[in-house]
Amino acid sequence: MKRAFITGITGQDGSYLAEFLLGKGYEIHGLIRRASTFNTDRIDHLYRDLHDPDARVYLHYGDLSVSGQLTDFLYAVKPDEIYHLGAQSHVRVSFDMPEYTGDVTGLGTLRLLEAIRKTGIKTRFYQASSSEMFGAAPPPQSEETPFQPQSPYAAAKVYAYYIVKNYRDAYKLFATNGILFNHESPRRGETFVTRKITRAATRIKLGMQDKLYLGNLDAKRDWGFAGDYVEAMWLMLQQDKPEDYVIATGETHSVREFAQEVFGKLNLDFDRYVEIDPRYFRPTEVDVLLGDSSKAKKSLGWRPRISFKGLVDMMVDCDMEIAKKEKTLLEAGFESNNRMAV
Ligand code: NAP
Ligand code: GDD
Repeated sequence: MKRAFITGITGQDGSYLAEFLLGKGYEIHGLIRRASTFNTDRIDHLYRDLHDPDARVYLHYGDLSVSGQLTDFLYAVKPDEIYHLGAQSHVRVSFDMPEYTGDVTGLGTLRLLEAIRKTGIKTRFYQASSSEMFGAAPPPQSEETPFQPQSPYAAAKVYAYYIVKNYRDAYKLFATNGILFNHESPRRGETFVTRKITRAATRIKLGMQDKLYLGNLDAKRDWGFAGDYVEAMWLMLQQDKPEDYVIATGETHSVREFAQEVFGKLNLDFDRYVEIDPRYFRPTEVDVLLGDSSKAKKSLGWRPRISFKGLVDMMVDCDMEIAKKEKTLLEAGFESNNRMAV
């Protein structure tokens, strides 16, 4: 049985990847942070009591800012594959917490690479690189496009990208960068724009919210489905040689278009409910992301399956179910915090 170590297993991508790898017969080891509230909602359906003979998911407390512990985990687990997805992943928040973002999102990658080097384990490493690294570079963006990062988050990811390349060259590690464009799902964190929109619009539809406040509606993103993208991560680690790949749909839409699609599907008047709040503007913005994933198509045989409209439908349908539950509980006099759709 192959063994995978996943950082960020409690996040959107980590949960889809864990599902995908379990389907392929892997044993999964995930790094989780200790929190005073539960942070495992996205993977609770995958977890089995460890006394269960079929248990294949093991969770370990740790943090990307603590290197010694990462080394100990890797030495103990000796994973065949490491998927490094953990990060402070919110671009706007990275302007508020630049030092922390640099430490976790940038140096976190170095700590894992050092752990591999020091333990000498034979493993394959996937780095969750980001289209945000392209920043101000004109579209379409491919593996050849020079980075022009526009945020502390992007700068941290650029550092991580280059340190992966350096360890690949210097120490002959099997280490790859997956440069993934935005990918969304019903499990997307609620402060990212797509999920913020689908949550708000479905709540507005059911009379539980009056307005949706957004920032820059003109920014354009290449939005795909997270479930499709985790397959690309796995494919990258199954190749003969470690290389870097762009993963994208090749289609771009503005935030306004995404919101109009969502409000239109719910027969709601976008102009009546959506307002601009400059607090959501960023000190520097990434205007247009549009990925060229020809290399991944050719070499990995990867293609996105879910279209832009399919993604909107999936997210609206799931959030409508959540909103209905919330409304039922509210009408019965209870408070609801049941927000997770799996
Ligand atoms: P996400 O939902 O925000 O998940 C981030 C994960 O990192 C969570 O499991 C989080 O744990 C964990 N984490 C944060 N700080 C940590 C720390 N100090 N130590 C250990 N774990 C920590 O992000 P995502 O959308 O799944 O993205 C996965 C990765 O891909 C990230 O590296 C992101 O930057 C990158 N990426 C994402 C996209 C996208 O569009 N989604 C595109 C390109 C690249 P908690 O649950 O405890 O917070
Ligand atoms: N979050 C948010 N909230 N974004 C808004 C809002 C709002 O109210 N209003 C407009 N936007 C705009 C942002 O300014 C940005 O241009 C766009 O919507 C997308 O914002 P996010 O959904 O926060 O995603 P992101 O593109 O900044 O970053 C995501 O994608 C990157 C890959 O390109 C994250 O998942 C990163 O971790 C990832 O690397």
